Amino acid sequence: MPGTPPLTSESSPVDRPPGPRGSLGPTLRFQYTPLRFLAGMLDEYGDIFSVELLGMPIIVLNHPIFVDHVLKRQHYNYERSGPAVEMAREMFGRGVGTAARPEWLWQRRLLQPIFHRQRIAEFTEIMSSAIQTTLHRWDRTASSGATIDVGAEMTDLSLRIVLRTLFDLHPADAKLRALTDAFTVATKELASFMRFPVLPLSAPTPGHRRFRRALDALDSITHEMIRQQETARGSHRSLLSRLMDARDSETGDRMSVHQLRDEILTMLFAGHETSANTLTWVWYLLGCYPEVEERLRAEIDAVVGERQPLIADLPRLVYTRQVIQETLRLYSPAWQNYRQALQDDVIGGYRIPAGTTVFWSYYFIHRHESYWPDPELFDPGRFSAAHGARVDPPGYYPFGAGPRLCMGNTFAMAEMQLTIAMILQRYRLIATSSRHIAPVALITLHPHRPITVHLERCRS
Ligand code: HEM
Repeated sequence: MPGTPPLTSESSPVDRPPGPRGSLGPTLRFQYTPLRFLAGMLDEYGDIFSVELLGMPIIVLNHPIFVDHVLKRQHYNYERSGPAVEMAREMFGRGVGTAARPEWLWQRRLLQPIFHRQRIAEFTEIMSSAIQTTLHRWDRTASSGATIDVGAEMTDLSLRIVLRTLFDLHPADAKLRALTDAFTVATKELASFMRFPVLPLSAPTPGHRRFRRALDALDSITHEMIRQQETARGSHRSLLSRLMDARDSETGDRMSVHQLRDEILTMLFAGHETSANTLTWVWYLLGCYPEVEERLRAEIDAVVGERQPLIADLPRLVYTRQVIQETLRLYSPAWQNYRQALQDDVIGGYRIPAGTTVFWSYYFIHRHESYWPDPELFDPGRFSAAHGARVDPPGYYPFGAGPRLCMGNTFAMAEMQLTIAMILQRYRLIATSSRHIAPVALITLHPHRPITVHLERCRS
């Protein structure tokens, strides 16, 4: 690969990569406009720089070789720990996404079978039925001529999918509204806290009190779900029942109630916000690139026609997959990641002392010019057979990489392919405004304003 930077240098490693001075200025710019701040720093300092955020030294990596080093080649030396994980644990406890080794390995082993391809096949019927519910609701909206907020619709849909597939909660279940309301409040308040963590969550500010109340509600709902599942043993095959039945293959241990609560909240978060964001960006990009949408429609017509798409169709919806892959390249919902070095290391010729946080942003990694020519262009053809058709080409990490690769990647791809196919079979989504929409980097990557569309029915 041209321009590949060395991981180590011939001479002895230099102590610290260059970077801006001071802590307050960079902290404020990072917290309020992270993408703009990082873009400026990367222009100025290149593939690796150091910065102090809230007084903590952080090394920012912007070359896929460095990310590969941390996530794959030296993964055992980089732990998902540090201040950001501590903050996320306030809500998710020690669920699989926030746990560290060795308990993480145990959790991962317990959860892995739930996401086996065969299980995903069982879930696709539920996914299709949830998408049908959305389409029926849209039929009424379309006949009234009203507009819809695509982001809100995709969030509602992906939340219903995850609640039904993984937890067997139906729309009529009274717990569902209480759960989604409390979850929305808690994640919003956690995001505000993580953005500017000056006062601890124990400080009784109005926002922190809202967070605590929402967490109390989530605790009581998840405990009720666990109790109900205990009495309904054997009748359901939801994720929760599987989690409760799962035993560690080596020790035979089961998960505690507390652990189950952490895994439920982790799966709820990891399993809906990311897919909802990706789908929202898909609809935005299709509005900007009508020729891509026409090709997509032609593929769906040829492969599925007017019948309901089945799991067996998904591998043949090749262009649909490419559209999703390219959307994930440009707008990776998990836009940032970090690890903490356990032992001293060297990256790019710079010393990384034990305890250092290394950070990178997929938003920029996926735009690295030595891997992605004309990086701002939305071109699903980058993932075509002519370009190797790899699911994980070099420099591409929407689902992460290495041992902590996203557990729900196959689930998410199936859900997104089905959603796109079923919506395009029935509707054209006509953007109500052609204004450019910029991404805003919160916990995940959101559009800076709602994306609204009119629905135009294409089939009865
Ligand atoms: C477009 C959709 C999705 C994207 C872009 C995405 C992205 C990611 C990324 C980047 C990571 C790695 C984090 C790291 O390296 O620290 C991750 C982890 C994870 N994801 Fe996803 N995800 C998606 C959907 C899902 C779904 C649908 C589920 C579950 C139903 C899920 C469950 C998880 C879990 C449990 C982890 C933690 C794995 C671990 O730490 O071992 N994700 N995801």
